[in-house]
Amino acid sequence: MTKRPAQRTHPAWTPERWGSKLGIILAVAGSAVGLGNFLRFPVQAAQHGGGAFMIPYVIALLLIGIPLSIVEWTIGRFGGAHGHNTTAGAFSAMWPWRGAKYLGLLGVFGPWVIFLYYTYVESWTLAFSYFSLAGLYDRATDQASMSAFLKSFQGVASNGTFANLGTAVFFFLITFALNLLVVAGGIRKGIECVSKVFLPMLLFFAALLVARIFWLGAPDPAHPDWNVVNGLGYLWNPDFSVLRESTVWLAAAGQILFTLSVGIGAIVTYASYLHRDDDVVLSSCTAVGMNELAEVILGGSLVIPVAFAFFGPQEMTAIARGGAFNLGFVTMPLIFGRLSWGHLFGCVWFLLLFLAGLTSSISLAQPVVAFFQNVYGWTRAKAVTVFGLLSVLLSQPAIWWLGRGAVDEMDFWGGTVALVLFGMLEILVFGWVFGMERGWREIHHGAEIRLPPIFKVIIRYVTPAYLLFVLGFWVYDHAKTTVSMVGVDPANRPYLLATRGLLAALLLGLVLSVRMAVRRRRHIPELER
Ligand code: ALA
Repeated sequence: MTKRPAQRTHPAWTPERWGSKLGIILAVAGSAVGLGNFLRFPVQAAQHGGGAFMIPYVIALLLIGIPLSIVEWTIGRFGGAHGHNTTAGAFSAMWPWRGAKYLGLLGVFGPWVIFLYYTYVESWTLAFSYFSLAGLYDRATDQASMSAFLKSFQGVASNGTFANLGTAVFFFLITFALNLLVVAGGIRKGIECVSKVFLPMLLFFAALLVARIFWLGAPDPAHPDWNVVNGLGYLWNPDFSVLRESTVWLAAAGQILFTLSVGIGAIVTYASYLHRDDDVVLSSCTAVGMNELAEVILGGSLVIPVAFAFFGPQEMTAIARGGAFNLGFVTMPLIFGRLSWGHLFGCVWFLLLFLAGLTSSISLAQPVVAFFQNVYGWTRAKAVTVFGLLSVLLSQPAIWWLGRGAVDEMDFWGGTVALVLFGMLEILVFGWVFGMERGWREIHHGAEIRLPPIFKVIIRYVTPAYLLFVLGFWVYDHAKTTVSMVGVDPANRPYLLATRGLLAALLLGLVLSVRMAVRRRRHIPELER
C-alpha cells in the first residue's frame, strides 16, 4: 500500500501534480466557495429558524462535512497513487470487485450534471455584472419590474427588454469557453493558477461589500429601526422551536454537502493529483475552514442584513420566501441602485458571484475530463474538447427549458440525489470495504495533525447513519412526488421527461465507456479489474 505499484501506462498519460500545498487548498476551497455560500446559505438560514439553524448546521458540519471531506481527500490521494483520477478508478483500487468502478461512476455523473446547469446560472452573474456597469436595468426600480427584467433575460416571460435568448446564450458561451480554457490549462497552470488569484479576489470583493453595507446604518430615515444591525438580528435571532422539525435538519445537512462540494466527486479528483506523502488532514480542514468563513461570516453578512435595512421586516420575509435567485438577481440590484456608486457596487456583487461560480464549476468539469483521460488515454486537449462538445449539447435543456423546470430537474438528480447517495457510498466503501483500520492509517499517512480517535466511530457509523437518515427521510417525504411529477403542469411534463431521458443517456454512456474500455484493454487505470 505504501509503495506505488508498477503500471502499464498509456503513452498519452503523464501524472499531473499540484504545484504547491497552498494551490490545492485554494482550489478545493474555491470549489467549495460558490453561489451556495452567498445566496443559498443565508436564505436557508432565514427560512429555517435563523440562529437556531446553526445548531443542525454545525452538527452536520462535524458529523458529515468534515469526515466526508477528509475521506474524499484520502480516497483521492490513494486513487492518484494508483494512477486513477476519478472516483470510478479510485473505487476499483479500494474494492476488488468488478462492479466497484461502475458505482464510482456516480462521482463523474454527478459533477457533470451539476456543471450543465451551474455554468448557465454562473453566466447570468457575468451578464448582470455587465448590465450593472452599463446601467441596463436602471429603469427597474421595484421588485416587480426587476423580476420582469430577469425573466425577460432568461426567456421565461417577455417584457420586451430582450427580444430572445440571444444575450443569455452569448454570455453562456463566454462563461462556458472560460471554464474550458481554465481546465485545458491543466491542474497546475490552469486550475491552480486561477484559484490562487480568483479566490482571494472574491474574498476581497465580499469583504468590500460587507464593509459598504455595514457603513449604511439605516438607509431610510422614516424607519430608523430598519438597519443592518437589526438585519443581522433578523437572520441570527434563534427560533429554537424549529429544531423539532426534521426538514430543518435535512436542510442543514443538504446545505453542508452542497457548500463543501462533498459527495460530488470533485474533491476526490483534485486530491488525486497530490503526492503520495502529502498531508490530507490539515489541508482538508483548512479548506473547510475557509469555506465556512466565506459562508457564515461573509455570506451571512451580505444579502439578508442589507435587504432588511432597505425593505424592512415584513417585505423581508416575502423576499426570503422568494428564494435565493430572487434575492441575488432581483433584490440586490435594486439595493445597489439606491446607493451612490451603485453601478460599480452592483458590478462588484455580480463579479463576486461569477468568480465564486467559476472556481466551483471548473472543479465540476475536471472529474469528467480526468475520466476521459483515464479511460481512453486521451490527451487533456482532446478530453476537454470532447467534454466541451458534449456539454454544450447536454446543457441546451437548461437554457431553453428553464421555464419548464429543466434546471430544477437537473438539480434534483445531479445536485441532490447523486450527491447524498454518493456521499453515503463513499463513506461506506471507505469505512467498511477498504476497512477502518487501514483507512485510519491511510488518512494519517503524511498527516501534519492527528484526528481525535472519536472520528473512527464517526466515519464508520455516525456519518453513514446520518446520511441514511437524510436520504430515507427525503425519499419518504419528497422522492415519490418528485419522481412521479406530482403537481407539475402537464404541459411541462414532456420537457422534463426529455431532460430525464438525456440524463439517463448520459449515465448509460458513461457505463458503456467503461465497459468498452475494459473490453478493449486500451488503458490502465479502469482496467485493472
Ligand atoms: N460548493 C459550491 C457552492 O457552494 C457548489 O456553490
